[in-house]
Amino acid sequence: MEGNEKKTEQGQASQSSRIQVIKGHILYSKDKDTIQIHENSYVLVEDGRVVNIYKTLPGEYVHCPVTDYQNKLIAPGFVDLHLHAPQFSQRGLGMDMTLMDWLNTYTFPHEGKFRDSTHAEKIYEKFTDSLLQHGTLNAAIFGTIHLESTKILMDICLRKNIGGYIGKVNMDRNCPDFLRETTQESIQETEAFILEYKDNYRMKPIISPRFAPTSTVGLLDGLGKLAIKYNIPIQSHLDENTGEIEFVRECFPDISSYAGVYDKFGLFGQAPTLMAHCVHLTDTEAKLLIENSVYAVHCPDSNANLTSGIMPVRKWLDMGMNIGLGTDIGAGHLVSIAKTIVRSIQLSKINSIYHKNEKALTLEEAYYLGTKSGGRFFDSKVGSLEKGYYFDALIIDDESLGDTDIPIIDRLQRFLYCGDDRNIVDRYFSGNLLT
Ligand code: GUN
Ligand code: FE
Repeated sequence: MEGNEKKTEQGQASQSSRIQVIKGHILYSKDKDTIQIHENSYVLVEDGRVVNIYKTLPGEYVHCPVTDYQNKLIAPGFVDLHLHAPQFSQRGLGMDMTLMDWLNTYTFPHEGKFRDSTHAEKIYEKFTDSLLQHGTLNAAIFGTIHLESTKILMDICLRKNIGGYIGKVNMDRNCPDFLRETTQESIQETEAFILEYKDNYRMKPIISPRFAPTSTVGLLDGLGKLAIKYNIPIQSHLDENTGEIEFVRECFPDISSYAGVYDKFGLFGQAPTLMAHCVHLTDTEAKLLIENSVYAVHCPDSNANLTSGIMPVRKWLDMGMNIGLGTDIGAGHLVSIAKTIVRSIQLSKINSIYHKNEKALTLEEAYYLGTKSGGRFFDSKVGSLEKGYYFDALIIDDESLGDTDIPIIDRLQRFLYCGDDRNIVDRYFSGNLLT
């Protein structure tokens, strides 16, 4: 899928200003309690960003051609704050294991194959096609330790118009020889990756130590320094599984908490930071996340598949934590953030049975997590269709799902629960129709 408009670089507008008018039922998350709906309205887009939404088009624009989507829904593209591109070809495997066994038995041997660039290219083409197909237009993505393969992933995302961040993974201990880097080469190659792509327009590098146990103190220290030197964001895993937490204690006996390991080395909010899972945070760790504005990424499918637990999203939300959603491909088996939104509601309902004071998530809250809240992590305005946001949008045709003569909010909910990629009939990135 490539943008069909003339553009300078990855959806950047060309010299002359470009005005588009697009019509349909426009909706987006305004805040965690509100999905704003503009029925039969026009969205005015200039140079790839939303200027305004009108019920009646103002006189000065009546001569502009209108792309009329009639009875279809126009919604922001989904935001996936945590997934592993190489694990696309590993989905649905080893689903009877818990984290550490799954990593050692399936994931590490699988990721080892990405030393071969031809293999990487083949899988990353399929992975990126699938992301777009399911409506994820911005994502924070892990590659592997391999620089060449991760550059291939970056170049494919730039060509296909996917926004967000990609990380070359770092690992220098507690992993098989074929995936282990020396501390020095890991830091040098990460710096090379940063230097090559840091000035990209909408898909940029992110520092990605896999997790504390596969990192030496020297590696964490070097990566923390790179994050500050270039102001590059950080992503990793935190408090996913009880066995993993025990292993972190053995690896870092002098540091009092798992979150404290990252914090000690400047990898916990010193630059914008994503921490996947956060299922078993202590109250002290939760407070540290909030103080440092670190994002917790909820990955409900992954947490169910690997028997990790249920993130107490309601509790963290009420404490004011920044939260987004992740598919965590391939511990999560589905590429769809629509389905991840549904799963986050389902798990929170089960959680509410066992924790009477933690109410289940509402549709509005879960939709917010998968769009605007996740989007706030990026330095581009993405995840909503309010003024100033990039027109990264999905056109949803839900005729096949039943009667469309029902409230728009119900149509959105039905699409999230019952629809799939076949209902997403067009995608726009920075106002460019992807074809
Ligand atoms: N912790 C460290 N690496 C991984 C990974 O690849 N997937 C998940 N779910 N957790 C991890
Ligand atoms: Fe993960």
